[in-house]
Order: sequence, then structure tokens, then C-alpha cells
Amino acid sequence: MMFTSFDLGSLHLPNRLAMAPMTRSRSYVAGIPSSLMALYYAQRASAGLIISEGIYPSAAGKGYMNTPGLYTDEQVAGWHEVTGAVHAAGGRIFAQIMHAGRIGHPDNTGALPVAPSAVRAAGQIFTPDGPQDLPVPVELSTAEVEETIRDFVRAARLAIDAGFDGVELHGANGYLIHQFLSRNANLRDDRYGRSVAGRIRFAVETAEAVAAEIGGSRVGIRLSPASGAQDLVEDDAHELYPALVSELAKLDLVYLHMMATGGDELGRRIRDLWPGALVVNDPMGTDPAVTAAKWLEWGADLVALGQAFLANPDLPLRLRLGAPLNEGDVDTYYAGDHRGYTDYPTLALHPAAV
Ligand SMILES: Cc1cc2nc3c(=O)[nH]c(=O)nc-3n(C[C@H](O)[C@H](O)[C@H](O)COP(=O)(O)O)c2cc1C
Repeated sequence: MMFTSFDLGSLHLPNRLAMAPMTRSRSYVAGIPSSLMALYYAQRASAGLIISEGIYPSAAGKGYMNTPGLYTDEQVAGWHEVTGAVHAAGGRIFAQIMHAGRIGHPDNTGALPVAPSAVRAAGQIFTPDGPQDLPVPVELSTAEVEETIRDFVRAARLAIDAGFDGVELHGANGYLIHQFLSRNANLRDDRYGRSVAGRIRFAVETAEAVAAEIGGSRVGIRLSPASGAQDLVEDDAHELYPALVSELAKLDLVYLHMMATGGDELGRRIRDLWPGALVVNDPMGTDPAVTAAKWLEWGADLVALGQAFLANPDLPLRLRLGAPLNEGDVDTYYAGDHRGYTDYPTLALHPAAV
């Protein structure tokens, strides 16, 4: 099952293994993707689908140091190099558009972060001076919420211009779209808040507007139901996520990328409500082969693997052969140079490992 092909929109995927989005913080200044990033992604082109690291769609959407953006000509040119390298190596790549919302710091961006409401998340963020408390963000006005949706649309258009095969909207893990969904980060009184219908509106309108711009067959969305990430409260997840997925289902998006954070019952409910391709990522998975087989059996169309792809550029081959896997070096996950980035060995370099 893992190695059967799958048609995702107009893309023909050779296997069911997606590379999960992973921020690696190796961009040049001004959010410009580096040549090293092109090599890193091209090395992983045997994934059925690569989902890029989170990419901010506007200056206000940046959260972390050394992460890439997608709103300037220089950024588009950098991404062109990345997508060209992946395609030349026979792969397919979606851009994950990630607006970090309240998870940011003026020392990283020069301005206070923006959010649905002026509610700070408990916790710290890495800055040039080391970890610092997350600040109280600035509440977006209704007009600014609409402008933010336009920022997502522009980034999606630029992603296509830069050669990406599609985009994934980051609606998971406590960032802006997810903040709108939650009860404690979204205290808004306008049409983007209050009720479940209000709190899902930003996600739905963003997906709708992006799909109108580049076509639903090139738009996926990632959700982490009930995860409570980054200090969010999601105690109404059993009501909110079915409502959200039902609305998204009307938009003919190419996939829903569900993190397996919501438990069996909610996960099954979402599978039943989602008519299109479902990608599952299980953050509790330990053995990638076991995790992939389990979720494909369960009803996922694709399984996204993160750290296993990070440490094994030739992961599909290794899983097919049952070969040993490299372990990831957590000290080089974020920032740094080629070490722990583009120097993980492939099997071809170590035939004795087969
Ligand atoms: C270094 C690193 C960076 C990550 N960055 C992102 C990101 O930019 N966007 C995102 O949606 N998830 C991100 N994640 C979460 C992964 O996509 C994935 O959900 C998580 O690693 C669990 O899957 P795994 O056990 O297969 O690695 C990141 C994870 C890691 C380890």
C-alpha cells in the first residue's frame, strides 16, 4: 500500500509517503531561500510529495529567525531554485504557507506580532538574544483580517509563479489560522469570532480565496484537531472541527492534512466528512514503517513523515528494503549550516547497510 501510486489533483505520486513540513531555519537574510535549501529538498525528491517548511506570506506573518518568506521578488527567485531542483530530481513540492500570528517577537521581525486578539501565549520564543517570553500581540482590525487573507492569496499566487505544484495552508500547531479557531486566543466580537461559525470563518475564507486564485486542485490545508498547541484551548473541538471540515469540504481542495491529535472518534468523524484525499501525520508515531502502514490501513490516502525524512533523504527506498534508518540529530534541527541538513547519508553511499 505504501508503495502504490496515487493521483493527487493532476499530480501522479509514485508512493503514499509525504514529507511533513519542517522549519529548518536556514534561509538567507530577508527570508530568501538559500541554495542549500534547494539541495536539501532535491535530496528528498523520492517522497510522493514534499511539503515545504512553513513560509510566511507577509512581513507580519514571520515568527521565527532565519525562516523563509514568499512576498518579494528575491524570495520568489530563491524558491524557483528550490522547486527547479526538486523537479529536476523527479519530485513534487507544495509550499506550506504559515502565518505565525501571535507566535513572534519584535527582536525577530522589528514589530509586535499580530493575532485575532491581544492575548499572549504562555511560553518563550528563540530570538538573537536567546529565548524570551512571547509578547502580547496586537489585535488585527476587521479590515486587517481581510488584508491578511489577501496576503495568503498573494503568497499562493507567487508560490505557483515560483514553480511550486501547490500550497498547503498551515491551520495547525497554534499559528494564526489555528489561533482564530480557538476559544482563548480568539476573543473577537466581529464576524471572525464569537461562535464556532465565527471562529472557523478565517480558515474557510482564506481557503476559499486561495482556491479561487490558483484552483482548489492545488490547495491543501493542515489541521491539528484538539491539539491545544502553543497554549490554545480547544475544548469544543468535537463541535468545531466537524463544522470546519464540512465547510472546507465544499471547496474542492486537493487534500486535508490531518495531524492525529484529536483521538479516534474525532479522527474518524473527520475522515467521514472529508470527501477528498486525506493526509495523516501522527506525532506520536515511533517506527515510520509501522506508522505509515497503520494509517493507510485506517483510511488515509497519504501518510506524512517528518523526522524520518529529515534524517533519511532516501526514506522510501529504505522503507521498501526494510533497511536501517539514520537517527536525526536534534541539535541541528533548527538553524546552522549543512551539518545535520544536507549531509545525512543515503543507502547508495553505504551499500553494506542494505
Ligand atoms: C524540525 C521540525 C520543524 C517543524 N516545522 C514545522 C512547520 O514548519 N510546519 C508544520 O506544520 N509542522 C512542523 N513540524 C511538525 C512536523 O510537520 C510533524 O508534524 C512532526 O514532526 C511529527 O511528525 P514526525 O514524528 O513524523 O516527525 C516540525 C517538526 C520538526 C521536527
